[in-house]
Amino acid sequence: MSDFSLPEPRFEIPVDALAELEAELPSGTLLDPSLGVEAYSRDETEALHYEPQVVARPIATADVSAILAWASRHRVPVTPQGARTGLSGGALPVFGGVALSLERLDRIRRLDLADQIVEVEAGVVTGQLQARVREEGLYYPPDPASRDTCQIGGNIAEDAAGPHSCKYGTTRRYVLGLEAVLPDGSVIRTGGANRKDVSGYSLTQLLVGSEGTLAVVTAATLRLIGYPAARLTLGLAFESLERGAQAVLEVFESGVEPAACELLEARALELVHASSPLPEALRDARSFVLLELDGPSRELLLDSALRLARRFEPIVPLVAADERDRQRLWEIRSKIGSAVKHYSTYKEIDAVVPRSSLAALVRAARRAADAAGLECVCYGHAGDGNLHVNLLRGRLEEDEWNDRRDRAEDELIEEVLRLGGAVAGEHGIGWTQRRHLRRAFSPAALDLMVRLKKAFDPLGILNPGKVLP
Ligand code: LAC
Ligand code: ZN
Repeated sequence: MSDFSLPEPRFEIPVDALAELEAELPSGTLLDPSLGVEAYSRDETEALHYEPQVVARPIATADVSAILAWASRHRVPVTPQGARTGLSGGALPVFGGVALSLERLDRIRRLDLADQIVEVEAGVVTGQLQARVREEGLYYPPDPASRDTCQIGGNIAEDAAGPHSCKYGTTRRYVLGLEAVLPDGSVIRTGGANRKDVSGYSLTQLLVGSEGTLAVVTAATLRLIGYPAARLTLGLAFESLERGAQAVLEVFESGVEPAACELLEARALELVHASSPLPEALRDARSFVLLELDGPSRELLLDSALRLARRFEPIVPLVAADERDRQRLWEIRSKIGSAVKHYSTYKEIDAVVPRSSLAALVRAARRAADAAGLECVCYGHAGDGNLHVNLLRGRLEEDEWNDRRDRAEDELIEEVLRLGGAVAGEHGIGWTQRRHLRRAFSPAALDLMVRLKKAFDPLGILNPGKVLP
């Protein structure tokens, strides 16, 4: 495989180069170090921490271009950042250098109701975009758990997804065009506002999910759809994991296409319960399937929901009668992430398999965890075959934890690949999942990825050390 040189482990920016950068940018672009670079040293991935030497917070694409041109001249590593809600360390400045935060490029440039598209800058908060377009009866579906804080640029970098990608697909499906800055500082525009476009290679779709390693996305043109007229949420609790996983398959077989289809296994329910009590009816459940249906009318949805509930005979069907009920059902799902975090240090494997292998995936996770003597918690986007497998550290010493975690992870990834799955469903490869890529791809495919990286970033200054093993 082609080799790929990385910067020195802790790169120091020379003082005169720093002065040159400062002189080129509007004042206030570089964060005053006395305000602290601490926040820019972390994302939401475990307890990882890497300090950048400088934090740049540009307000215009031209400034992003100037920063990258400067970085190329001086060979300074640059790590693009959004809201740093990532879960595989993609935004961590592992080689120091410049943390390039896009948070102040936060304008909605254009909302076009006739074409149902919106052009946004990278720093627009996803939830705020969703709220704004909803005022117009429009829907931007990608809904990562962090939607109230995460930003569109980061969502594009990771091809972010969430519960509703079950019906509506991931971020990629909505990205029609991009404005991006290459590592040498040149600004490119890819795609546009057209709903179809096969002109040339799709640089747009290559950049989506490239985790800020090929170019820095500064703005995007996104496709919107009509907001669904009615929604209905229902929770089905089962006495076994198998019954829950089987129910997930049968929902789709029955012809119902759920907007969201989530699963929590028993240990996940226990942890949620420990942080805030579950409804009485769920206390004996060994698995819980949360379904959301949407469509033209509530009557039709209710009809489908009741048919599903009768078909599966869950120990208890919970049908949300109103928005408050809906929120309560969704809280069972949305609380699990913080419940795990609160309980223990963890390592998450964001495994995805064909939907029919869901139960096999949970069993494989348990086997791998048991063999390594670790506790594990599984939950996630069952309709997409995507589960977040959390391995818990508990009270283990550092070395012991690292060793057992790696063993469990390796065994699980092996099994995921055997089931026809992939290493990461939605959280990316970033910094923490790289070593699994060698197993997932042939040397020829990996080599092509390395050559693509080099074509975009010949000096290796942009988000070095990420994605490629
Ligand atoms: C979730 C995040 C972890 O699904 O992706 O809760
Ligand atoms: Zn998720």
